Amino acid sequence: MRSHYSGELSANLVGQRVAMAGWAHRRRDHGGVIFIDLRDRDGLAQVVCDPDRAEAFVNAERVRGEYVLRVTGVVRRRPEGTVNPDLTSGEVEVLAHELEILNAAVPPPFQLDDQNLSETVRLEHRIVDLRRDFMQRNLRLRHRAARAARAFLDDNHFVEIETPVLYKSTPEGAREFLVPSRLNDGQFYALPQSPQLFKQMLMIAGFDRYYQITKCFRDEDLRADRQPEFTQIDVETSFLDEAQIRGLMEGLARHLFKSVLGVALPDPFPVMSYEEAMRDYGLDKPDLRVPLKLAELTDVMRDVEFKVFSGPANAPGGRVAALRIPGGGAISRGEIDGYTDFVRGLGARGLAWIKVNARLKGADGLQSPIVKNLHAGALAAILERTGAADGDLIFFGADRAEAANACLGALRQRIGHERGLAQKGWRPLWVVDFPMFEYDEQARLWKARHHPFTSPKDGHEALMESAPEKAYAKAYDMVLNGWEVAGGSVRIHREEVQQQVFRAMRIAPEEQQAKFGFLLQALRYGAPPHGGIAFGFDRLVALMAGVEAIRDVIAFPKTQRGQDMVTGAPSAVSERQLRELHIRLRSAPPQ
Ligand code: AMO
Ligand code: AMP
Repeated sequence: MRSHYSGELSANLVGQRVAMAGWAHRRRDHGGVIFIDLRDRDGLAQVVCDPDRAEAFVNAERVRGEYVLRVTGVVRRRPEGTVNPDLTSGEVEVLAHELEILNAAVPPPFQLDDQNLSETVRLEHRIVDLRRDFMQRNLRLRHRAARAARAFLDDNHFVEIETPVLYKSTPEGAREFLVPSRLNDGQFYALPQSPQLFKQMLMIAGFDRYYQITKCFRDEDLRADRQPEFTQIDVETSFLDEAQIRGLMEGLARHLFKSVLGVALPDPFPVMSYEEAMRDYGLDKPDLRVPLKLAELTDVMRDVEFKVFSGPANAPGGRVAALRIPGGGAISRGEIDGYTDFVRGLGARGLAWIKVNARLKGADGLQSPIVKNLHAGALAAILERTGAADGDLIFFGADRAEAANACLGALRQRIGHERGLAQKGWRPLWVVDFPMFEYDEQARLWKARHHPFTSPKDGHEALMESAPEKAYAKAYDMVLNGWEVAGGSVRIHREEVQQQVFRAMRIAPEEQQAKFGFLLQALRYGAPPHGGIAFGFDRLVALMAGVEAIRDVIAFPKTQRGQDMVTGAPSAVSERQLRELHIRLRSAPPQ
Protein backbone atom coordinates (compact mmCIF):
# COMPACT_ATOMS: atom_id res chain seq x y z
CA MET A 1 0.00 0.00 0.00
CA ARG A 2 2.86 2.37 0.68
CA SER A 3 6.23 3.03 -0.84
CA HIS A 4 7.54 5.45 1.80
CA TYR A 5 7.03 6.46 5.41
CA SER A 6 6.97 10.16 6.19
CA GLY A 7 10.43 9.92 7.75
CA GLU A 8 11.81 8.80 4.41
CA LEU A 9 10.59 11.84 2.48
CA SER A 10 13.33 14.30 1.70
CA ALA A 11 14.51 16.62 -1.03
CA ASN A 12 16.27 13.62 -2.64
CA LEU A 13 12.87 12.33 -3.72
CA VAL A 14 11.70 15.52 -5.44
CA GLY A 15 9.90 14.61 -8.66
CA GLN A 16 9.36 11.00 -7.63
CA ARG A 17 6.03 9.25 -7.28
CA VAL A 18 5.31 7.90 -3.79
CA ALA A 19 2.49 6.04 -2.08
CA MET A 20 1.84 6.86 1.55
CA ALA A 21 -0.62 5.63 4.13
CA GLY A 22 -1.68 6.75 7.58
CA TRP A 23 -4.08 8.98 9.49
CA ALA A 24 -5.35 12.47 8.77
CA HIS A 25 -3.73 14.38 11.61
CA ARG A 26 -5.01 17.74 10.50
CA ARG A 27 -6.82 19.08 7.48
CA ARG A 28 -6.75 22.70 6.41
CA ASP A 29 -8.90 24.13 3.66
CA HIS A 30 -7.08 27.10 2.13
CA GLY A 31 -9.84 28.15 -0.21
CA GLY A 32 -9.34 25.99 -3.23
CA VAL A 33 -6.36 23.99 -1.93
CA ILE A 34 -6.63 21.40 0.84
CA PHE A 35 -3.66 20.54 3.01
CA ILE A 36 -3.64 17.30 4.95
CA ASP A 37 -1.00 16.39 7.51
CA LEU A 38 -0.74 12.67 7.03
CA ARG A 39 0.55 10.89 10.14
CA ASP A 40 2.35 7.56 10.17
CA ARG A 41 4.75 5.92 12.58
CA ASP A 42 7.52 8.33 11.66
CA GLY A 43 5.55 11.54 12.10
CA LEU A 44 3.83 13.91 9.68
CA ALA A 45 3.98 14.56 5.96
CA GLN A 46 2.19 17.39 4.24
CA VAL A 47 -0.15 16.36 1.43
CA VAL A 48 -1.52 18.97 -0.95
CA CYS A 49 -4.76 18.40 -2.86
CA ASP A 50 -5.72 20.86 -5.54
CA PRO A 51 -8.98 20.97 -7.49
CA ASP A 52 -7.25 19.99 -10.78
CA ARG A 53 -7.44 16.39 -9.66
CA ALA A 54 -11.17 16.31 -9.15
CA GLU A 55 -11.50 12.81 -7.71
CA ALA A 56 -8.74 13.22 -5.15
CA PHE A 57 -10.05 16.66 -4.28
CA VAL A 58 -13.60 15.44 -3.65
CA ASN A 59 -12.26 12.79 -1.33
CA ALA A 60 -10.01 15.31 0.42
CA GLU A 61 -13.06 17.44 1.14
CA ARG A 62 -14.63 14.50 2.97
CA VAL A 63 -11.56 13.83 5.12
CA ARG A 64 -11.93 14.50 8.85
CA GLY A 65 -9.53 14.09 11.75
CA GLU A 66 -8.19 10.51 12.17
CA TYR A 67 -9.57 9.21 8.87
CA VAL A 68 -7.36 6.47 7.46
CA LEU A 69 -5.91 7.44 4.09
CA ARG A 70 -3.81 6.23 1.24
CA VAL A 71 -2.26 8.87 -0.93
CA THR A 72 -0.27 8.54 -4.11
CA GLY A 73 1.39 11.55 -5.59
CA VAL A 74 4.58 13.33 -6.46
CA VAL A 75 7.13 14.77 -4.06
CA ARG A 76 7.88 18.44 -4.58
CA ARG A 77 9.76 21.14 -2.74
CA ARG A 78 7.71 23.33 -0.45
CA PRO A 79 7.51 26.91 -1.61
CA GLU A 80 10.09 29.32 -0.17
CA GLY A 81 9.12 30.34 3.37
CA THR A 82 6.89 27.34 4.09
CA VAL A 83 9.67 24.90 5.00
CA ASN A 84 9.01 23.32 8.38
CA PRO A 85 12.30 22.63 10.19
CA ASP A 86 10.44 20.65 12.91
CA LEU A 87 9.50 17.86 10.54
CA THR A 88 11.91 15.36 9.04
CA SER A 89 9.91 15.74 5.86
CA GLY A 90 9.67 19.53 6.35
CA GLU A 91 11.42 20.54 3.13
CA VAL A 92 8.99 18.73 0.87
CA GLU A 93 5.32 17.95 0.37
CA VAL A 94 3.35 15.43 -1.65
CA LEU A 95 1.09 16.67 -4.40
CA ALA A 96 -1.77 14.16 -4.29
CA HIS A 97 -2.76 12.44 -7.53
CA GLU A 98 -5.02 9.94 -5.82
CA LEU A 99 -6.44 10.07 -2.35
CA GLU A 100 -8.30 7.07 -1.06
CA ILE A 101 -10.25 6.98 2.20
CA LEU A 102 -9.49 3.53 3.62
CA ASN A 103 -11.66 4.09 6.65
CA ALA A 104 -13.65 6.86 8.28
CA ALA A 105 -13.33 7.66 11.99
CA VAL A 106 -15.62 9.18 14.57
CA PRO A 107 -14.30 12.50 15.89
CA PRO A 108 -11.48 11.75 18.39
CA PRO A 109 -12.31 12.50 22.05
CA PHE A 110 -9.50 15.05 22.18
CA GLN A 111 -6.96 16.75 19.96
CA LEU A 112 -3.80 14.69 19.74
CA ASP A 113 -1.62 17.67 20.48
CA ASP A 114 -3.64 18.78 23.51
CA GLN A 115 -1.12 19.12 26.36
CA ASN A 116 -3.64 19.40 29.19
CA LEU A 117 -5.40 16.07 29.20
CA SER A 118 -6.42 14.46 32.45
CA GLU A 119 -5.09 10.99 32.99
CA THR A 120 -8.62 9.59 33.32
CA VAL A 121 -9.50 10.85 29.86
CA ARG A 122 -6.24 9.50 28.50
CA LEU A 123 -6.73 6.06 30.01
CA GLU A 124 -10.37 5.87 28.93
CA HIS A 125 -9.40 6.62 25.36
CA ARG A 126 -6.05 4.88 25.44
CA ILE A 127 -6.00 3.99 21.76
CA VAL A 128 -6.20 7.62 20.75
CA ASP A 129 -3.83 8.55 23.58
CA LEU A 130 -1.31 6.02 22.30
CA ARG A 131 -1.36 7.72 18.89
CA ARG A 132 0.11 10.84 20.48
CA ASP A 133 3.72 11.60 19.77
CA PHE A 134 4.52 11.44 23.51
CA MET A 135 3.28 7.87 23.93
CA GLN A 136 4.68 6.76 20.59
CA ARG A 137 8.10 7.98 21.68
CA ASN A 138 7.84 6.38 25.14
CA LEU A 139 6.85 2.96 23.88
CA ARG A 140 9.42 2.99 21.12
CA LEU A 141 12.04 3.90 23.71
CA ARG A 142 10.81 1.01 25.82
CA HIS A 143 11.28 -1.30 22.87
CA ARG A 144 14.81 -0.05 22.28
CA ALA A 145 15.63 -0.55 25.95
CA ALA A 146 14.33 -4.13 25.91
CA ARG A 147 16.31 -4.84 22.77
CA ALA A 148 19.48 -3.37 24.25
CA ALA A 149 19.02 -5.43 27.43
CA ARG A 150 18.63 -8.60 25.41
CA ALA A 151 21.67 -7.79 23.32
CA PHE A 152 23.85 -7.23 26.38
CA LEU A 153 22.61 -10.34 28.15
CA ASP A 154 22.95 -12.48 25.03
CA ASP A 155 26.53 -11.21 24.57
CA ASN A 156 27.23 -12.20 28.15
CA HIS A 157 25.99 -15.75 27.63
CA PHE A 158 22.65 -15.48 29.41
CA VAL A 159 19.85 -17.79 28.26
CA GLU A 160 16.27 -16.48 28.17
CA ILE A 161 13.98 -19.06 29.76
CA GLU A 162 10.27 -18.67 30.41
CA THR A 163 8.80 -19.65 33.76
CA PRO A 164 5.19 -20.39 34.74
CA VAL A 165 2.61 -17.71 35.37
CA LEU A 166 0.21 -20.11 37.06
CA TYR A 167 2.26 -20.63 40.17
CA LYS A 168 1.93 -21.60 43.79
CA SER A 169 0.97 -19.35 46.65
CA THR A 170 4.27 -18.65 48.47
CA PRO A 171 4.52 -15.68 50.80
CA GLU A 172 7.27 -13.53 49.30
CA GLY A 173 6.30 -10.14 50.59
CA ALA A 174 3.38 -8.57 48.79
CA ARG A 175 -0.18 -9.85 48.56
CA GLU A 176 -0.76 -12.28 45.71
CA PHE A 177 -3.36 -12.58 42.99
CA LEU A 178 -5.09 -15.94 43.14
CA VAL A 179 -6.50 -17.97 40.25
CA PRO A 180 -9.04 -20.69 41.03
CA SER A 181 -8.43 -24.11 39.55
CA ARG A 182 -11.42 -25.67 37.74
CA LEU A 183 -9.80 -29.08 37.68
CA ASN A 184 -8.90 -29.06 41.36
CA ASP A 185 -11.90 -28.13 43.46
CA GLY A 186 -11.06 -25.60 46.16
CA GLN A 187 -7.46 -25.10 45.05
CA PHE A 188 -5.78 -22.02 43.70
CA TYR A 189 -2.80 -20.98 41.70
CA ALA A 190 -1.08 -17.72 42.56
CA LEU A 191 0.37 -15.38 39.97
CA PRO A 192 4.12 -14.99 40.62
CA GLN A 193 5.36 -11.89 42.43
CA SER A 194 8.58 -12.67 40.59
CA PRO A 195 10.17 -15.79 39.10
CA GLN A 196 12.48 -15.90 42.13
CA LEU A 197 12.34 -19.60 42.98
CA PHE A 198 12.16 -20.75 39.38
CA LYS A 199 15.33 -18.89 38.52
CA GLN A 200 17.06 -20.42 41.51
CA MET A 201 15.94 -23.87 40.38
CA LEU A 202 17.29 -23.09 36.91
CA MET A 203 20.68 -22.41 38.49
CA ILE A 204 20.53 -25.74 40.30
CA ALA A 205 19.62 -27.26 36.93
CA GLY A 206 22.89 -25.96 35.51
CA PHE A 207 21.86 -23.12 33.19
CA ASP A 208 24.56 -20.93 34.77
CA ARG A 209 23.15 -17.60 33.52
CA TYR A 210 19.43 -16.97 33.06
CA TYR A 211 17.38 -13.95 32.17
CA GLN A 212 13.80 -13.20 31.33
CA ILE A 213 11.93 -10.02 30.56
CA THR A 214 8.78 -10.97 32.33
CA LYS A 215 5.58 -9.88 33.99
CA CYS A 216 5.30 -9.98 37.79
CA PHE A 217 2.08 -9.60 39.73
CA ARG A 218 1.56 -7.98 43.13
CA ASP A 219 -1.72 -6.99 44.68
CA GLU A 220 -0.31 -3.86 46.31
CA ASP A 221 -1.56 -0.35 46.86
CA LEU A 222 -0.68 1.45 43.68
CA ARG A 223 1.46 4.53 43.28
CA ALA A 224 3.16 6.42 40.50
CA ASP A 225 5.98 3.86 40.45
CA ARG A 226 3.86 0.78 41.14
CA GLN A 227 1.54 -1.28 39.01
CA PRO A 228 -0.18 -4.55 39.94
CA GLU A 229 1.42 -6.16 36.93
CA PHE A 230 4.80 -4.83 35.98
CA THR A 231 7.83 -6.01 34.07
CA GLN A 232 11.19 -7.13 35.36
CA ILE A 233 14.44 -7.83 33.62
CA ASP A 234 15.03 -10.84 35.81
CA VAL A 235 18.55 -12.21 36.06
CA GLU A 236 20.29 -15.07 37.87
CA THR A 237 23.90 -16.27 37.77
CA SER A 238 25.93 -19.11 39.26
CA PHE A 239 29.45 -19.15 40.72
CA LEU A 240 29.77 -15.35 40.90
CA ASP A 241 30.24 -13.46 44.13
CA GLU A 242 28.32 -10.35 45.11
CA ALA A 243 30.80 -7.86 43.67
CA GLN A 244 30.96 -9.77 40.37
CA ILE A 245 27.18 -9.85 40.05
CA ARG A 246 26.96 -6.13 40.75
CA GLY A 247 29.75 -5.46 38.27
CA LEU A 248 27.93 -7.36 35.54
CA MET A 249 24.61 -5.70 36.30
CA GLU A 250 25.90 -2.17 36.36
CA GLY A 251 27.44 -3.07 33.01
CA LEU A 252 23.91 -3.82 31.82
CA ALA A 253 22.66 -0.46 33.11
CA ARG A 254 25.55 1.35 31.45
CA HIS A 255 24.91 -0.46 28.18
CA LEU A 256 21.21 0.48 28.26
CA PHE A 257 21.87 4.15 28.89
CA LYS A 258 24.64 4.30 26.32
CA SER A 259 22.79 2.57 23.53
CA VAL A 260 19.34 4.06 24.14
CA LEU A 261 20.15 7.59 25.32
CA GLY A 262 23.81 8.01 24.41
CA VAL A 263 24.51 8.70 28.09
CA ALA A 264 27.68 7.41 29.80
CA LEU A 265 26.87 6.37 33.37
CA PRO A 266 29.80 6.32 35.81
CA ASP A 267 32.09 3.30 35.87
CA PRO A 268 32.06 1.95 38.52
CA PHE A 269 28.90 2.99 40.36
CA PRO A 270 29.49 4.30 43.88
CA VAL A 271 28.63 1.80 46.63
CA MET A 272 27.01 2.86 49.88
CA SER A 273 25.98 0.71 52.83
CA TYR A 274 22.38 0.71 53.99
CA GLU A 275 23.51 2.18 57.34
CA GLU A 276 25.31 5.01 55.60
CA ALA A 277 22.31 5.74 53.38
CA MET A 278 19.99 5.93 56.38
CA ARG A 279 22.42 8.01 58.39
CA ASP A 280 23.18 10.56 55.68
CA TYR A 281 19.99 10.57 53.61
CA GLY A 282 17.28 9.03 55.79
CA LEU A 283 16.29 6.72 52.90
CA ASP A 284 17.61 3.55 51.33
CA LYS A 285 17.22 5.06 47.85
CA PRO A 286 18.83 8.48 48.07
CA ASP A 287 18.66 10.85 45.15
CA LEU A 288 22.29 11.88 44.95
CA ARG A 289 21.44 14.78 42.66
CA VAL A 290 20.38 16.60 45.84
CA PRO A 291 23.66 17.62 47.50
CA LEU A 292 22.34 17.73 51.08
CA LYS A 293 23.07 15.36 53.95
CA LEU A 294 21.50 14.87 57.36
CA ALA A 295 23.54 15.78 60.45
CA GLU A 296 23.51 13.53 63.49
CA LEU A 297 22.51 15.22 66.76
CA THR A 298 21.20 12.42 68.95
CA ASP A 299 24.23 12.38 71.27
CA VAL A 300 24.17 16.14 71.92
CA MET A 301 20.44 16.41 72.61
CA ARG A 302 20.26 14.04 75.58
CA ASP A 303 20.52 16.79 78.21
CA VAL A 304 18.61 19.65 76.60
CA GLU A 305 15.49 21.10 78.20
CA PHE A 306 13.53 20.74 74.98
CA LYS A 307 11.60 17.49 75.53
CA VAL A 308 10.80 17.13 71.83
CA PHE A 309 14.53 16.46 71.33
CA SER A 310 15.68 15.00 74.66
CA GLY A 311 12.87 12.40 74.62
CA PRO A 312 13.91 10.60 71.40
CA ALA A 313 17.61 11.30 72.11
CA ASN A 314 17.36 9.25 75.31
CA ALA A 315 14.97 6.58 74.03
CA PRO A 316 16.43 3.35 72.66
CA GLY A 317 16.12 3.45 68.88
CA GLY A 318 15.47 7.20 68.90
CA ARG A 319 17.16 9.74 66.69
CA VAL A 320 17.55 13.50 66.45
CA ALA A 321 18.91 14.72 63.14
CA ALA A 322 19.07 17.96 61.22
CA LEU A 323 18.85 19.01 57.60
CA ARG A 324 20.54 22.22 56.52
CA ILE A 325 18.96 24.08 53.63
CA PRO A 326 21.53 26.43 52.07
CA GLY A 327 19.91 29.80 51.52
CA GLY A 328 16.84 28.55 53.37
CA GLY A 329 16.64 31.82 55.29
CA ALA A 330 14.43 32.96 52.42
CA ILE A 331 11.82 30.29 53.20
CA SER A 332 8.72 32.04 54.56
CA ARG A 333 6.72 31.07 57.63
CA GLY A 334 3.92 29.99 55.33
CA GLU A 335 6.28 27.71 53.43
CA ILE A 336 7.60 26.26 56.70
CA ASP A 337 3.98 25.50 57.63
CA GLY A 338 3.61 23.77 54.28
CA TYR A 339 6.68 21.60 54.93
CA THR A 340 5.38 20.88 58.44
CA ASP A 341 2.11 19.61 56.98
CA PHE A 342 4.11 17.55 54.51
CA VAL A 343 6.10 15.74 57.25
CA ARG A 344 2.96 15.41 59.40
CA GLY A 345 1.43 13.56 56.48
CA LEU A 346 4.37 11.16 56.80
CA GLY A 347 3.74 10.65 60.50
CA ALA A 348 5.94 13.34 62.12
CA ARG A 349 4.67 15.24 65.13
CA GLY A 350 6.18 18.51 63.99
CA LEU A 351 9.07 20.15 62.22
CA ALA A 352 11.32 22.28 64.40
CA TRP A 353 13.55 24.81 62.60
CA ILE A 354 16.22 27.41 63.14
CA LYS A 355 17.13 30.23 60.79
CA VAL A 356 20.77 31.24 60.95
CA ASN A 357 20.86 35.03 60.61
CA ALA A 358 24.30 35.74 62.04
CA ARG A 359 26.26 32.71 63.10
CA LEU A 360 28.97 34.69 64.87
CA LYS A 361 26.42 36.18 67.28
CA GLY A 362 25.66 32.83 68.90
CA ALA A 363 22.09 32.32 70.13
CA ASP A 364 21.23 35.96 69.34
CA GLY A 365 21.97 35.37 65.69
CA LEU A 366 19.50 32.48 65.49
CA GLN A 367 15.82 32.89 64.78
CA SER A 368 13.60 30.06 66.02
CA PRO A 369 10.88 29.11 68.48
CA ILE A 370 13.13 26.44 70.02
CA VAL A 371 16.46 28.18 70.59
CA LYS A 372 15.61 29.23 74.13
CA ASN A 373 15.23 25.56 75.11
CA LEU A 374 18.64 24.50 73.81
CA HIS A 375 21.84 25.16 75.76
CA ALA A 376 24.89 26.77 74.22
CA GLY A 377 26.68 23.43 73.75
CA ALA A 378 23.76 22.00 71.80
CA LEU A 379 23.48 25.12 69.63
CA ALA A 380 27.20 25.04 68.91
CA ALA A 381 26.98 21.38 67.93
CA ILE A 382 24.05 22.09 65.61
CA LEU A 383 25.96 24.81 63.76
CA GLU A 384 29.16 22.80 63.69
CA ARG A 385 27.66 19.53 62.46
CA THR A 386 25.31 21.02 59.89
CA GLY A 387 28.01 23.42 58.71
CA ALA A 388 25.34 26.13 58.63
CA ALA A 389 26.24 29.57 57.35
CA ASP A 390 24.39 32.87 57.55
CA GLY A 391 21.24 32.79 55.47
CA ASP A 392 20.66 29.05 55.96
CA LEU A 393 17.74 27.27 57.57
CA ILE A 394 17.98 24.07 59.58
CA PHE A 395 15.11 21.60 59.95
CA PHE A 396 15.00 18.98 62.69
CA GLY A 397 13.49 15.55 63.05
CA ALA A 398 13.25 13.87 66.45
CA ASP A 399 11.51 10.54 66.79
CA ARG A 400 12.06 6.81 66.52
CA ALA A 401 14.96 6.62 64.08
CA GLU A 402 12.79 5.13 61.30
CA ALA A 403 10.22 7.91 61.63
CA ALA A 404 12.75 10.73 61.85
CA ASN A 405 14.63 9.30 58.86
CA ALA A 406 11.51 8.89 56.75
CA CYS A 407 10.47 12.50 57.32
CA LEU A 408 13.83 14.17 56.87
CA GLY A 409 14.66 11.87 53.96
CA ALA A 410 11.51 12.82 52.10
CA LEU A 411 11.88 16.49 53.02
CA ARG A 412 15.46 16.53 51.74
CA GLN A 413 14.36 15.14 48.42
CA ARG A 414 11.39 17.47 48.08
CA ILE A 415 13.14 20.68 49.08
CA GLY A 416 16.23 19.80 47.07
CA HIS A 417 14.19 19.67 43.86
CA GLU A 418 11.70 22.37 44.71
CA ARG A 419 14.33 24.96 45.60
CA GLY A 420 16.58 24.27 42.65
CA LEU A 421 19.38 22.69 44.70
CA ALA A 422 19.39 19.45 42.72
CA GLN A 423 22.06 18.85 40.12
CA LYS A 424 21.29 17.65 36.63
CA GLY A 425 22.23 14.33 35.16
CA TRP A 426 22.29 10.70 36.22
CA ARG A 427 23.42 9.60 39.67
CA PRO A 428 23.33 5.85 40.06
CA LEU A 429 24.59 4.01 43.12
CA TRP A 430 24.47 0.68 44.84
CA VAL A 431 23.03 0.40 48.31
CA VAL A 432 24.44 -2.76 49.94
CA ASP A 433 24.56 -4.61 53.26
CA PHE A 434 20.88 -4.49 54.07
CA PRO A 435 19.63 -5.98 57.31
CA MET A 436 18.36 -9.55 56.80
CA PHE A 437 15.12 -8.88 58.64
CA GLU A 438 12.72 -6.18 59.67
CA TYR A 439 10.34 -6.46 62.55
CA ASP A 440 6.66 -6.62 61.70
CA GLU A 441 4.98 -4.96 64.68
CA GLN A 442 1.54 -6.20 63.77
CA ALA A 443 2.48 -9.83 63.23
CA ARG A 444 5.16 -9.61 65.94
CA LEU A 445 7.52 -11.48 63.71
CA TRP A 446 10.79 -10.89 61.93
CA LYS A 447 10.25 -10.75 58.19
CA ALA A 448 12.82 -10.95 55.42
CA ARG A 449 13.68 -7.47 54.17
CA HIS A 450 14.42 -8.65 50.66
CA HIS A 451 13.08 -12.19 50.47
CA PRO A 452 13.74 -15.25 52.60
CA PHE A 453 16.06 -16.82 50.02
CA THR A 454 18.70 -14.14 50.50
CA SER A 455 22.01 -15.22 51.98
CA PRO A 456 23.21 -13.74 55.27
CA LYS A 457 26.64 -12.12 55.26
CA ASP A 458 29.41 -14.57 56.04
CA GLY A 459 29.50 -15.14 59.78
CA HIS A 460 25.97 -13.80 60.34
CA GLU A 461 24.25 -17.20 60.10
CA ALA A 462 23.94 -17.78 63.85
CA LEU A 463 22.81 -14.21 64.50
CA MET A 464 19.67 -14.81 62.44
CA GLU A 465 18.11 -16.66 65.34
CA SER A 466 19.99 -15.22 68.32
CA ALA A 467 19.88 -11.52 67.37
CA PRO A 468 17.93 -11.10 64.10
CA GLU A 469 18.30 -7.31 64.18
CA LYS A 470 22.07 -7.71 63.88
CA ALA A 471 22.07 -10.11 60.94
CA TYR A 472 23.00 -8.50 57.63
CA ALA A 473 22.36 -9.81 54.15
CA LYS A 474 24.21 -10.09 50.87
CA ALA A 475 21.49 -7.93 49.34
CA TYR A 476 21.87 -4.93 47.06
CA ASP A 477 19.68 -2.36 45.38
CA MET A 478 20.56 -0.30 42.35
CA VAL A 479 19.31 3.24 42.87
CA LEU A 480 19.10 5.89 40.17
CA ASN A 481 18.06 9.49 40.82
CA GLY A 482 16.05 8.46 43.85
CA TRP A 483 14.32 5.45 42.28
CA GLU A 484 14.99 1.88 43.30
CA VAL A 485 15.51 0.49 39.80
CA ALA A 486 16.75 -2.96 40.74
CA GLY A 487 17.07 -5.23 43.73
CA GLY A 488 18.83 -8.52 44.20
CA SER A 489 20.93 -10.71 46.40
CA VAL A 490 23.27 -13.64 46.71
CA ARG A 491 21.04 -16.60 47.55
CA ILE A 492 21.21 -19.30 50.12
CA HIS A 493 22.46 -22.45 48.42
CA ARG A 494 22.62 -24.72 51.47
CA GLU A 495 19.52 -26.30 52.90
CA GLU A 496 20.46 -25.87 56.56
CA VAL A 497 20.98 -22.11 56.16
CA GLN A 498 17.63 -21.86 54.38
CA GLN A 499 16.00 -23.66 57.28
CA GLN A 500 17.69 -21.32 59.75
CA VAL A 501 16.11 -18.36 57.96
CA PHE A 502 12.70 -20.01 58.07
CA ARG A 503 13.19 -20.69 61.78
CA ALA A 504 14.16 -17.08 62.43
CA MET A 505 10.92 -16.10 60.70
CA ARG A 506 9.02 -18.61 62.86
CA ILE A 507 7.96 -20.71 59.89
CA ALA A 508 7.37 -24.13 61.42
CA PRO A 509 8.83 -27.27 59.76
CA GLU A 510 5.41 -28.43 58.50
CA GLU A 511 4.75 -25.02 56.95
CA GLN A 512 8.24 -24.99 55.46
CA GLN A 513 7.48 -28.29 53.80
CA ALA A 514 4.04 -27.23 52.60
CA LYS A 515 5.16 -23.91 51.15
CA PHE A 516 8.81 -24.33 50.26
CA GLY A 517 9.33 -28.10 50.26
CA PHE A 518 10.15 -27.97 46.56
CA LEU A 519 12.95 -25.45 47.21
CA LEU A 520 14.41 -27.34 50.17
CA GLN A 521 14.31 -30.48 48.05
CA ALA A 522 16.03 -28.69 45.15
CA LEU A 523 18.81 -27.42 47.41
CA ARG A 524 19.71 -31.06 48.15
CA TYR A 525 20.56 -31.82 44.54
CA GLY A 526 23.87 -30.00 44.57
CA ALA A 527 22.87 -26.34 44.43
CA PRO A 528 25.71 -24.10 43.21
CA PRO A 529 26.43 -20.75 44.86
CA HIS A 530 24.18 -18.37 42.95
CA GLY A 531 22.68 -14.92 43.01
CA GLY A 532 21.00 -12.36 40.84
CA ILE A 533 18.87 -9.31 40.54
CA ALA A 534 15.70 -7.96 38.99
CA PHE A 535 15.37 -4.59 37.33
CA GLY A 536 12.05 -2.83 37.48
CA PHE A 537 11.91 -2.38 33.72
CA ASP A 538 8.97 0.06 33.80
CA ARG A 539 10.84 2.27 36.25
CA LEU A 540 14.03 2.17 34.23
CA VAL A 541 12.17 3.19 31.08
CA ALA A 542 10.19 5.88 32.92
CA LEU A 543 13.47 7.41 34.08
CA MET A 544 14.91 7.24 30.58
CA ALA A 545 11.78 8.81 29.13
CA GLY A 546 11.81 11.51 31.80
CA VAL A 547 8.27 10.79 33.00
CA GLU A 548 7.02 10.67 36.58
CA ALA A 549 4.62 7.74 36.39
CA ILE A 550 5.37 4.30 35.00
CA ARG A 551 1.86 4.38 33.48
CA ASP A 552 3.34 6.60 30.78
CA VAL A 553 5.63 3.83 29.58
CA ILE A 554 3.05 1.03 29.70
CA ALA A 555 0.68 0.61 26.78
CA PHE A 556 -2.34 -0.46 28.81
CA PRO A 557 -1.75 0.31 32.48
CA LYS A 558 -4.13 -0.02 35.41
CA THR A 559 -5.56 2.94 37.28
CA GLN A 560 -4.85 3.61 40.97
CA ARG A 561 -7.82 1.37 41.70
CA GLY A 562 -6.35 -1.46 39.67
CA GLN A 563 -8.78 -1.06 36.79
CA ASP A 564 -8.12 -1.35 33.09
CA MET A 565 -10.22 1.46 31.67
CA VAL A 566 -10.01 0.11 28.12
CA THR A 567 -11.46 -3.34 28.62
CA GLY A 568 -13.25 -2.68 31.89
CA ALA A 569 -11.33 -5.27 33.90
CA PRO A 570 -11.90 -6.44 36.57
CA SER A 571 -15.53 -7.28 35.92
CA ALA A 572 -18.25 -9.54 37.25
CA VAL A 573 -18.49 -13.03 35.73
CA SER A 574 -21.47 -15.28 35.14
CA GLU A 575 -22.89 -17.62 37.72
CA ARG A 576 -22.06 -20.50 35.39
CA GLN A 577 -18.37 -19.56 35.28
CA LEU A 578 -18.28 -19.31 39.05
CA ARG A 579 -19.96 -22.67 39.48
CA GLU A 580 -17.41 -24.30 37.20
CA LEU A 581 -14.69 -22.88 39.42
CA HIS A 582 -16.43 -24.11 42.58
CA ILE A 583 -16.83 -20.55 43.83
CA ARG A 584 -19.74 -18.96 45.65
CA LEU A 585 -19.57 -15.20 46.27
CA ARG A 586 -20.10 -13.90 49.79
CA SER A 587 -21.90 -10.85 48.47
CA ALA A 588 -23.65 -10.09 45.22
CA PRO A 589 -21.28 -8.73 42.56
CA PRO A 590 -21.66 -5.04 41.70
CA GLN A 591 -23.85 -4.54 38.64
P1 AMO B 1 12.04 -6.75 44.14
O1 AMO B 1 10.80 -7.08 44.86
O2 AMO B 1 13.00 -5.78 44.79
O3 AMO B 1 12.93 -8.05 43.90
O4 AMO B 1 11.69 -6.23 42.70
C1 AMO B 1 12.70 -5.87 41.77
C2 AMO B 1 12.39 -4.52 41.15
O5 AMO B 1 11.11 -4.51 40.55
C3 AMO B 1 10.55 -3.21 40.62
N1 AMO B 1 9.20 -3.31 41.22
C4 AMO B 1 8.08 -2.76 40.71
N2 AMO B 1 7.88 -1.99 39.63
C5 AMO B 1 6.63 -1.61 39.36
N3 AMO B 1 5.55 -1.94 40.10
C6 AMO B 1 5.69 -2.70 41.21
N4 AMO B 1 4.61 -3.03 41.92
C7 AMO B 1 7.01 -3.14 41.56
N5 AMO B 1 7.51 -3.90 42.55
C8 AMO B 1 8.83 -4.00 42.34
C9 AMO B 1 11.50 -2.36 41.43
C10 AMO B 1 12.34 -3.38 42.15
O6 AMO B 1 13.64 -2.90 42.42
N6 AMO B 1 12.89 -11.58 43.00
C11 AMO B 1 13.49 -10.35 43.49
C12 AMO B 1 14.72 -9.97 42.71
C13 AMO B 1 15.95 -10.77 43.04
O7 AMO B 1 16.22 -10.97 44.24
O8 AMO B 1 16.64 -11.15 42.09
C14 AMO B 1 12.47 -9.23 43.37
O9 AMO B 1 11.42 -9.34 42.78
O10 AMO B 1 12.29 -1.59 40.56
P1 AMP C 1 6.10 22.21 70.64
O1 AMP C 1 6.98 22.38 71.83
O2 AMP C 1 5.37 20.90 70.57
O3 AMP C 1 5.23 23.40 70.34
O4 AMP C 1 7.10 22.13 69.40
C1 AMP C 1 8.07 23.13 69.15
C2 AMP C 1 8.60 22.95 67.75
O5 AMP C 1 9.10 21.63 67.59
C3 AMP C 1 7.54 23.14 66.68
O6 AMP C 1 8.17 23.84 65.61
C4 AMP C 1 7.18 21.74 66.27
O7 AMP C 1 6.80 21.69 64.89
C5 AMP C 1 8.51 21.02 66.48
N1 AMP C 1 8.36 19.59 66.73
C6 AMP C 1 7.45 18.95 67.50
N2 AMP C 1 7.64 17.60 67.49
C7 AMP C 1 8.72 17.40 66.70
C8 AMP C 1 9.45 16.25 66.29
N3 AMP C 1 9.11 15.02 66.69
N4 AMP C 1 10.53 16.42 65.48
C9 AMP C 1 10.89 17.66 65.07
N5 AMP C 1 10.26 18.78 65.44
C10 AMP C 1 9.18 18.67 66.25
